[in-house]
Amino acid sequence: MFITVEGVDGAGKSTLVRGLGERLAAEGIDVVLSREPGGTPLGQQVRQILLDGEDMDAWTEVFLFCADRHHHVETLIRPALNAGKWFISDRYVDSTLVYQGYGQRLSLSRLRAVCELAIDGLWPDLTLCIDLPAEQAISRQLERNRLGQLDLSFYERVREGFHREAELTPQRFEMLKGDAPADEVLESAWQAVQDRRARLSALEHP
Ligand code: TMP
Repeated sequence: MFITVEGVDGAGKSTLVRGLGERLAAEGIDVVLSREPGGTPLGQQVRQILLDGEDMDAWTEVFLFCADRHHHVETLIRPALNAGKWFISDRYVDSTLVYQGYGQRLSLSRLRAVCELAIDGLWPDLTLCIDLPAEQAISRQLERNRLGQLDLSFYERVREGFHREAELTPQRFEMLKGDAPADEVLESAWQAVQDRRARLSALEHP
């Protein structure tokens, strides 16, 4: 099963990814935890360029995010899934659609086309999106980098973007309340994973 975790910066994605990883491992499930950008050695270099490199325009950022993603898909995600493992990625394709599409206002149809090329059909089975009001997202940000934004309206557009994308693909999206305590967020996420797992297994063994 391929799970992605999405949300605005500061929403608590990495805590949730770790928590889910621990629960799955405790059930004896072989799970790989990763992130974008930066899930592979090449991706780490791309992440450094994106976060700390020179200024670049928004489409150059898109191609870098997508180069990282394509390499991640082909060298790590797809091989792990083919080997029967579970895979959890902290951010994936929805981050590009939402940050670059809704946040930076690039054309969504062009972004979808570029993202499709990058993932080559590998859509997640489940996307857990941690929802957090823009003010809280900004106040929770500990790390500042080139992509970090202090602009409230940017995060409002990003939050709205996640909601719109969730409405477009309700079969894989699950919205989680990010202003709840971390153990409650994990509990709701765990429930969503169990539900999805049951639905996938019903499809495989009707
Ligand atoms: P992170 O802090 O969650 O690792 O993400 C790094 C930053 O990159 C964060 O501000 C979100 C941004 N980002 C995009 O703008 N587009 C993307 O496609 C991805 C994966 C991340």
